[in-house]
Amino acid sequence: MAVLGDSAGGRVKAVRDEAVAQAVRRGLTARPKRLPPWLFYDEAGSALFERITELPEYALTRVERELLRSHAGEMVRLAADGERLRVVELGAGSAEKTRLLLAAAVAVQGGVVYEPVDVSVTALEAACARLQAEVPGVETRPVVADYTAGWRPEACEERTLLTWIGSSIGNFEPGEATAMLARMGAGMKAGDGLLLGVDLGPTDCGKSVEMLLAAYDDAAGVTAEFNRNVLRRVNRELGGDFDVEAFRHVALWNEAESRMEMHLESEREQRVRVEGLGLEVEFAAGERLHTENSYKYRVAQAEGLMAEAGFWPVGRWVDGDGWFALMLGRRAGLRRFAQGC
Ligand code: AVI
Repeated sequence: MAVLGDSAGGRVKAVRDEAVAQAVRRGLTARPKRLPPWLFYDEAGSALFERITELPEYALTRVERELLRSHAGEMVRLAADGERLRVVELGAGSAEKTRLLLAAAVAVQGGVVYEPVDVSVTALEAACARLQAEVPGVETRPVVADYTAGWRPEACEERTLLTWIGSSIGNFEPGEATAMLARMGAGMKAGDGLLLGVDLGPTDCGKSVEMLLAAYDDAAGVTAEFNRNVLRRVNRELGGDFDVEAFRHVALWNEAESRMEMHLESEREQRVRVEGLGLEVEFAAGERLHTENSYKYRVAQAEGLMAEAGFWPVGRWVDGDGWFALMLGRRAGLRRFAQGC
């Protein structure tokens, strides 16, 4: 395993601390108030998210894992198209589902280089150590970086399969996601691929709005704690004095925008001080702080977004209930685009 340098981790952390402070200041002084969803993922938030993925109401992770379990070999063969593949993963986290893809790549081509990209050094170290122990043939080359902030893969001789799974795309505005994928694509070569995991929206026969509401407001209250943890993070890292229990978790379906939304609603009129920012903010009773959008797509919309970013759709795998899709796009050569393909 490549050794993760302390200096890379330290640099990323310093930049991250500054980004946290800026995002909180901007969000709490905005009208209406809002905080970006990436703020959920400190250590406590990441652990809560892992628990969400195991909840009976939250099918997304299970369905995606089953798609990978059943079709990883096909995905690898289609992406490789006779060449040797390396896998680069955006926001790798525990890489728990990706190991299925990597095991398939090892079976097809005898070994595989895996470059997980994540801001968390500890998550990368744990994921790489587990992969090394459990999937012989995987060579890990971890990258400590914030992929939303300018990072992109470098073209190399092997064919690259860039994976962005887990429906992470849902937490970005569609335009932002397209621009980010286009930026990634600019560092890739013709024939390289993108494997995108997309949570699908409610349909007449498949997923209902009730299912989505339950997935984002589970009976055990784990998602509510995940949502409130963002206030705890502000208290911990920026000296805030949020009375966390005085904020109610709200999950709602926004039909017009095709997205689930999470908010924290102030139960009473209150004033919050964030010492580290020298900031005081007032909340009216019933005022909401918007903490997350989770866009749900139709297959055709997601494929349109991929194509706009420069990845031509070549494969798609959807579960039998039509809840989740994994899509493979291929970066076309300049000539193909010039011909209007
Ligand atoms: C990480 N992301 C795809 C999750 C989602 O479903 O949007 C985050 C999450 N929020 C509430 N539950 C899970």
